[in-house]
Amino acid sequence: MTTTASNSSAGVYDRGREAAGPRGSVVLGNTWQLQHDPLAFLMSTAARYGDVARYRLGNVTFYQINHPDGVQRILQDNRHNYLKGDLFDIIRMVGGDGLFTSEGDLWLRQRRLMQPTFHRRRIDGFGGVMTRRTLEMLARWEVRGDRERPLDVAEELTGLTMAIISETMFGNRLDEDTHAVSQAITVLLSDINFRFMIPFYPSLRWPTLRNRRTLAAMGTVDDVVLGIIERRRAAEATGEPEHDDLLAMLMEARDADTGEGMSDKQLRDEVVTIFVAGHETTAVALTWAFYLLARHPQAEAMLHAELSEVLGGRAPEISDVANLRYTRMVIDETLRLYPPAWITNRQAVAEDVICGYRIPAGAAVAVSPYVMHHLPAWWHEPYRFNPERFDPDMAHDRPRFAYMPFGGGPHQCIGNTFALMEATLILATVAQSYQLQLPAGVTVRPRPETTLRPDGGLPMLLQPRSANQR
Ligand code: HEM
Repeated sequence: MTTTASNSSAGVYDRGREAAGPRGSVVLGNTWQLQHDPLAFLMSTAARYGDVARYRLGNVTFYQINHPDGVQRILQDNRHNYLKGDLFDIIRMVGGDGLFTSEGDLWLRQRRLMQPTFHRRRIDGFGGVMTRRTLEMLARWEVRGDRERPLDVAEELTGLTMAIISETMFGNRLDEDTHAVSQAITVLLSDINFRFMIPFYPSLRWPTLRNRRTLAAMGTVDDVVLGIIERRRAAEATGEPEHDDLLAMLMEARDADTGEGMSDKQLRDEVVTIFVAGHETTAVALTWAFYLLARHPQAEAMLHAELSEVLGGRAPEISDVANLRYTRMVIDETLRLYPPAWITNRQAVAEDVICGYRIPAGAAVAVSPYVMHHLPAWWHEPYRFNPERFDPDMAHDRPRFAYMPFGGGPHQCIGNTFALMEATLILATVAQSYQLQLPAGVTVRPRPETTLRPDGGLPMLLQPRSANQR
């Protein structure tokens, strides 16, 4: 298979074949099919049209890449040709020029500045917050009145990961400011979701009720975050004790060449980006993990056995994470079946050839971890939950980009170590104390928005596990 633009043996530039794709309507193209059932549309398009498929959403032509080599070319080997561009404008509206949306020199400088903050050694220090916050959630569950009434686990876990990112970001726990930022971020995330589904909604210039609410939330975030930064800078000048949270690490970061740190505006953008990118994704992954465990008692029993053996009933600590191998396999397999970041897009700068197909300059390119994770060419029985696929002792001969819950290449998720540590600690802490059961008759479908959430949340019954079961 050809995955690079090449000169043929006759010396003629090989521009590749035209990709084919599903027929759509004259005006909207394939918009309705995609909106109606995005996952089914992506999967059927991949199955029918192969490595590269073409479709149209309104007046934008998309090329969906369905082969790991093609994805590797976009995210890694020829990444300078594929920019985030206008396709990320909805997130840019909230996260400004943060790492998720910036490009080129600004992105590179920021990535270099921020990379050490997300290094395992520094992230390890947050393990205590992660476990403690989870135990606090369990303590609330403990005193809940009606055991027969299901609890929305999706909502609980979103609240938990929000509390964790707030505390790791700003250090303090019960602060009014932190609470205001969390609430404002929740409004902004729901707005991003809304605009993702309804891209033609009027821009923020129009004073609709929604737009006014979004602008108010942005105002809160700006006031509070810039206020905290200002107070920290003032405290620094008077030699007050230093903080050891994510914000302090971001404020301390210095460019190796120039010695410069980040401006207040850049810090604000990075803080908001980390909040937006770094809590719902992990909550969604955990939600699906509990759903899958409830449906696969054998896997659940293996998880419980590991927790007993490694923890013997005590709460997990950071030093346990490396020994919680099966717990991690459950998380890896959950991220395969339900990758929270189920799709990402890029815009081609110049013409390219991917897997032998022509990608015109300016085209939008769609890369879907969901599709990659379900391709029968790389995954045996792709829809079956089987954590053993991720047994570290087994050899895996799949290509790097067949599994990509955190993306890949230089823009790979900077928070992946944080997320996997958090997911492992939360899953272990909760599963040790409770068995979460699906109420009879409940069916759950994924709802692809900015993240792949369960449609309507995930109501579950909480069954406490006794001390001798742990
Ligand atoms: C299970 C949880 C998570 C998943 C599935 C996930 C997934 C991803 C993916 C797929 C990308 C690449 C997007 C693209 O290339 O278009 C990404 C980027 C990013 N993620 Fe995550 N993420 C998770 C958790 C986190 C956490 C906890 C943080 C921060 C604390 C975070 C911060 C970021 C940032 C800042 C970027 C942009 C990186 C760059 O472009 O240099 N993520 N994430």
